[in-house]
Amino acid sequence: MHDMTAANLRSAFGGESQAHMRYLIWGEKAEKDGFPNVGRLFAAVAWAEQVHATNHFKTMKAVTGGFLVASGAEFGLGTTSENLEGAIRGENFEVDEMYPAYIATAQFQEEKQAVRSCQWAWEAEKTHAALYSRAKSSVDAGADPELGPIQVCAVCGYTVEGDIPDKCPVCNVGQDQFRTFA
Ligand code: FE2
Ligand code: FE2
Ligand code: FE2
Repeated sequence: MHDMTAANLRSAFGGESQAHMRYLIWGEKAEKDGFPNVGRLFAAVAWAEQVHATNHFKTMKAVTGGFLVASGAEFGLGTTSENLEGAIRGENFEVDEMYPAYIATAQFQEEKQAVRSCQWAWEAEKTHAALYSRAKSSVDAGADPELGPIQVCAVCGYTVEGDIPDKCPVCNVGQDQFRTFA
């Protein structure tokens, strides 16, 4: 694997891993603050980020050894509204800057597996940003958002509220590949 693509995947792995932990922490805070549906949303998206981290890790399975990894990551444990704002900022950074740049580099270097791993994550992050924005509007109005079951694709991390789609719109797998957070 080309060095630049490998470095980008390591950074993405770091970012996804930290997002996974951060959302679990912010989810616990949301539960304590009396926003159980926000807590459930954080738990679902945390699992989607685990899917992304796993895909990136497997994509660079042949790259062995120790590396210093630098990743963009949000910090701070504030109110649930502030935590949602941090989550939206992090997701938007991935959607607007990080993944488009990583995808372009991987395409240029003809690293097909890396292109796929980053494209799947990129599409899923868009769904995360939208769900977090919805949740924040409700929390800012003083109410836990009304959220039905949250469905997460185990293959690409695509996340949607409501019924499981017939096929994942991002990676095309069937309904049996979805995990439900109800
Ligand atoms: Fe992700
Ligand atoms: Fe995300
Ligand atoms: Fe999928």
